[in-house]
Amino acid sequence: MKRYMKYIKPYAAAFILAPLCMLTEVFGEIMLPKLMSMIVNRGVAQRDLSYIIGVGAVMVVFSMLMALGGVGGAYFSSKASICFTSDLRAELFAKVQKFSFKNIDQFSTGSLVTRLTNDIQQIQNVTMMGLRMMFRAPGMLIGALIMAFIMNKRLAFVILIVIPFLALAIAGILKTAFPRFTQMQKKLDRLNSGIQEALTNVRVIKSFVREDYEKERFTGMNRDLKESSLSAMNIVIMTMPVMMLAMNITTLAVVWYGGNIIIAGDMAVGDLTAFTTYIVQILMSLMMLSMVLLQSSRAMASVRRINEVMDTVVDLTDENASRKELLVSRGKVEFRDVSFSYHEDAGEKVLKQISFSVEPGQTLGIIGATGSGKTTLVQLIPRLYDVSEGSVLVDGVDVREYALENLREGVGMVLQKNVLFSGTIEENLQWGRENATEKDLREAAESAQADGFIMAFAEGYQKDLGQGGVNVSGGQKQRLCIARALLKRPKILILDDSTSAVDTATEARIRECFATALKSTTKIIIAQRISSVEEADKILVLDEGRIIGVGSHKELMEQCQAYQEIYYSQRDREKEVSA
Ligand SMILES: Nc1ncnc2c1ncn2[C@@H]1O[C@H](COP(=O)(O)OP(=O)(O)O)[C@@H](O)[C@H]1O
Ligand SMILES: [Mg+2]
Repeated sequence: MKRYMKYIKPYAAAFILAPLCMLTEVFGEIMLPKLMSMIVNRGVAQRDLSYIIGVGAVMVVFSMLMALGGVGGAYFSSKASICFTSDLRAELFAKVQKFSFKNIDQFSTGSLVTRLTNDIQQIQNVTMMGLRMMFRAPGMLIGALIMAFIMNKRLAFVILIVIPFLALAIAGILKTAFPRFTQMQKKLDRLNSGIQEALTNVRVIKSFVREDYEKERFTGMNRDLKESSLSAMNIVIMTMPVMMLAMNITTLAVVWYGGNIIIAGDMAVGDLTAFTTYIVQILMSLMMLSMVLLQSSRAMASVRRINEVMDTVVDLTDENASRKELLVSRGKVEFRDVSFSYHEDAGEKVLKQISFSVEPGQTLGIIGATGSGKTTLVQLIPRLYDVSEGSVLVDGVDVREYALENLREGVGMVLQKNVLFSGTIEENLQWGRENATEKDLREAAESAQADGFIMAFAEGYQKDLGQGGVNVSGGQKQRLCIARALLKRPKILILDDSTSAVDTATEARIRECFATALKSTTKIIIAQRISSVEEADKILVLDEGRIIGVGSHKELMEQCQAYQEIYYSQRDREKEVSA
């Protein structure tokens, strides 16, 4: 709760004014029946028209005040709840942006989306409702009770007898409703996550012809939600008629008992009408209270889920970096006895005692089976993950001593699962460097062998890529990603299997361009094909997280059996293809 004060504070005025405005409404609601009874008791009974007009005028004033209060209450509660949750949402989004790769691994995208949208909305609804009901429900309950007692103590006792029974009934309803609503929220989460996943991966689903499976999975989740919602709603449905029944029985009791009192001459007729109104008000306020409690229980689940994100410790920061001013200037990379695992408690490490170094301007090739740890290894250089043991040095300085921004500015990386964003090609390339000129863009695109196909589009660099770059082929996408990384003019360029969908001839031209245009840039190239790394100054052969061979192509062909095996199997396959 304390954490939320920070977001409430800027809107403190609205948070205070909203319930206060509602108080005028409470006051009016309590006073109107009393005034009405005065009109009946004296104005009507004694045929005193001027009295009726006088009291009527007061009633009009009260009604207008109530309307004003009602509008004010609605306005301030909307303002308070909408503004406060908007800030909260912004903060939550900012927090997620700060997440390290490791943090992101913990939450599914779907659940993060639900938290940012649905859960925030839930909190907003409850805040709005809570602010309006906070004083109104208890105010009406207490006010109506007091008025009833002032009017006639004996009759008021009838109400006092009914209230404990009602409170008990409501408590019982709430107690069954709480778990049902929690259940419903859980099912809703699952459905949201499921929808999110299915929609983001709709292409994969279609290509594997899994639509029916997905539809069935969705139907299952949808049915679960339907059933849990129905079971929760059944309780809510029950509440209303039970309350109405209680209200009518109480009213009857009051009218019967009150009638007796009136006949005995101890009470005026008008008081009885006021009394019945107060009964309705008391029951209404009890109902409002129960609704607020019910909604709150749902919101508490949302609050917990938002706290979960807020409380996640971003495990990778540069707060303790000692060389924050330092920029990557030369591009030397060195691994010293590096070991790594994704989870502290995981059995086998993904990387084991990795040591090697690359000089500025050199090219390092990395070869190894899928799952051997190639991607993991290069992700340690721009500190997407932190080493478990040992150290990674750039220009002789531990990467943990750099400001993250400076380090990542110096390291250009084309991720294995890289993505483009919706927008034009130009906009996407400018991600690499915001103020890049047209000449820069074309230069980078030429090096990445992308200029040719871009210019073949009628719109050229203004071609719209569509969401996630759907309008270009896999190989074209990879070349655009390389061009984007080149625009950063990094000191260290990492390509993680970034030319897998590019044909060998084009790939060779990219390599030629790199050799001339990126002379001083250190290049780290992960590849499946030996031909992609053959000319590298140094090649690492990885197997199950260990380096099992280091050297130039020539040296490895002489010394490393695993390398030879990969070489010959690829050569044989090529022969088969060309034959
Ligand atoms: N985010 C992750 N969380 C947990 N394990 C992972 C993660 N990414 C990769 N791994 C595991 O680490 C190992 C090495 O993966 P990776 O570095 O991607 O291999 P490569 O790039 O050589 O194919 C694999 O066993 C993989 O299952
Ligand atoms: Mg990989």
